[in-house]
Amino acid sequence: MSQSGWIWYQNEFLPRQAVSISPDDRGYYFGDGLYEVFRVYNGLLFEPSAHFDRLERTAKALQIALPFSRSQMEARLQELIGKNEVTNGTVYMQITRGEAARSHPFPPYVEPVLMAHTSVSERPLDMMRRGITAVTADDIRWLRCDLKTLNLLPNILAKQEALDRGADEVILHRSGTVTECSASNIMIVKNGVLRTHPANHLILHGVTRLVVLRLARELGLPLLEEPFTLEALGQADEAFLTGTTVEVTPIIRIDGRPVGNGSPGPIVQQLQTAFEAAISALA
Ligand code: PDD
Repeated sequence: MSQSGWIWYQNEFLPRQAVSISPDDRGYYFGDGLYEVFRVYNGLLFEPSAHFDRLERTAKALQIALPFSRSQMEARLQELIGKNEVTNGTVYMQITRGEAARSHPFPPYVEPVLMAHTSVSERPLDMMRRGITAVTADDIRWLRCDLKTLNLLPNILAKQEALDRGADEVILHRSGTVTECSASNIMIVKNGVLRTHPANHLILHGVTRLVVLRLARELGLPLLEEPFTLEALGQADEAFLTGTTVEVTPIIRIDGRPVGNGSPGPIVQQLQTAFEAAISALA
């Protein structure tokens, strides 16, 4: 992955080294802000409306007034992609409440601080073909996991714990109910039925999750948006992640035990093929 030269900062495009963020930025002090990560395929934003829906919903809940309309944001991001010559990669966009002396209440007059940059990265094809390993851990996050805020410490700690335990990813659970992973959603398959946690306050409403559920419906796969337990996870025929950076990635071992026969199953492969077609349709 390589990060590219131009940054969208406030109302202009600046070279990376020309951007300076204040030490009084509330994002820096409090994580008081929100973000989005978009995938770029063939130089185009993937599913921009779903990302802007979530961005607007988060901004509203945090009472941060977005400085641009969604059509302005989409046009600026597309311009940034062009300036940085990104064909395949990601766009990261963050908006904080703004800059003010450190004090908990909202400052009375403050302008949000917006920053967006791009990265060039190839699709995770090897990982999607081979699958990954995961361990389970307590979900110790707050109760508004549906908001895409900058506060990611629990996600970071859980991800690092997985790596330290020799696994690739962490599967989070609340008292035995599986929620999601550190930066992706999780789905399982049992007897041909797809199951994933409902899109409520306990998970991020993933854009990829939405796309995969749409594809599953088109394929006529039975699906349930219902919570499932660690026990059901342990007995699943298939399990996989969905996310902007991981796309549709099979999980082949959980807590040291194989999922199904320990290799990517037929349903995840069917969904990967359908996802591939959805990306190609973008060109
Ligand atoms: N994360 N759940 C969590 C906790 C996430 O952070 C993400 C995305 C997802 C998947 O959402 P989507 O399909 O919209 O990418 C689920 C981004 C990629 C990140 O923080 O880097």
